[in-house]
Amino acid sequence: MANTENVEIGVIGGSGFYSFLDDVTEIQVDTPYGPPSDSLFLGEVAGRRVAFLPRHGRGHHLPPHRINYRANLWALRSVGARQVLGPCAVGGLRPEYGPGTLLVPDQFVDRTQTRAQTFFDGVPLAGGGTPNVVHVSLADPYCPAGREVALAAARGRDWEAVDGGTLVVIEGPRFSTRAESLWYRAQGWSVVGMTGHPEAALARELELCYTSLTLVTDLDAGAAAGEGVSHDEVLRVFAANVDRLRGVLFDAVAGLPDSSSSRDCLCASALGGMDTGIALP
Ligand code: ADE
Repeated sequence: MANTENVEIGVIGGSGFYSFLDDVTEIQVDTPYGPPSDSLFLGEVAGRRVAFLPRHGRGHHLPPHRINYRANLWALRSVGARQVLGPCAVGGLRPEYGPGTLLVPDQFVDRTQTRAQTFFDGVPLAGGGTPNVVHVSLADPYCPAGREVALAAARGRDWEAVDGGTLVVIEGPRFSTRAESLWYRAQGWSVVGMTGHPEAALARELELCYTSLTLVTDLDAGAAAGEGVSHDEVLRVFAANVDRLRGVLFDAVAGLPDSSSSRDCLCASALGGMDTGIALP
C-alpha cells in the first residue's frame, strides 16, 4: 500500500472537478460501509499532505443519491485526514447570487430522502463491531476555523466570497420546480445543491472538520426567468471557474490549522468521548 502517512486534509471534488493535483499517488481504500466513489489521490500542497476524492467518481458516473457518502468520509479519515474541504456546484436562490458566486455557507437544510446519514445505526459492520446509537450536535454544521480560512483564501485571490448563508440540499437528480425554488427562496435560503448532505453530518460523526465551498453555476428555477436549469449549464459554468476554485482550495489547504496540534473547534471533540461501539479508523 502507498504511504498514507501524514495525510491531514481531504478534498472532495464535485461536478466538473475530477482532479486536484498533478503529482499524485492513487490508492484504493475499502471501508466497512463499502467502497468510496473512486480511488483516493494523495499529493502535497504547500507541504501539507492531501487526499483528493472525486465525489461523483472520475467521469461522473455516480448521481448524488447513489454516492456512498459514508464510505467517502470513512476512507478519508482512514488515511489520516482530519479536515475536509467540500466544494460543490449549487444554484443561486437570489438574483444577486449569480453564476460565479462563491458562497461559504454556515447552515444547511436537509431536503434529501434516501441517504444513509449516520455511521451509528446499530447494524453490525463487515469489518467487525456494532455501532451504538450516537446523537451528535449539528447546530453549527461547518467548521468555524475552516470557514474563516476558506473566506480568506478566496479574498486573497480577489474573489469576494459570500460569508454565510443556507444551503438547501435536495434529493435530485432532478432540478427543482419553480414552485419549490420560490419556496426555498421565501424561506430565506441562499443556494440549492444536491450533495451537501449528508457529507457535513457524517464528517461531524467522525470528528472531522468540514467546510463547504459552494460555487453558483446557475440561477435556480425560481430566481431566473427562462427555461430553468440544465446539467450542461452547470458543467459549463463550473468548468469556467474550476481553475480559480482550485487556487482557492490550494490556499485554503495551506492555511488550515495543523491537524495534530491546533484543532480547537467543536468538530474535533464532537463525540465527547462517547462509547460509539466501534473504533474510528
Ligand atoms: N447544482 C448546480 N445547480 C443546481 C441547482 N440549480 N439545483 C440543485 N443542484 C444544483
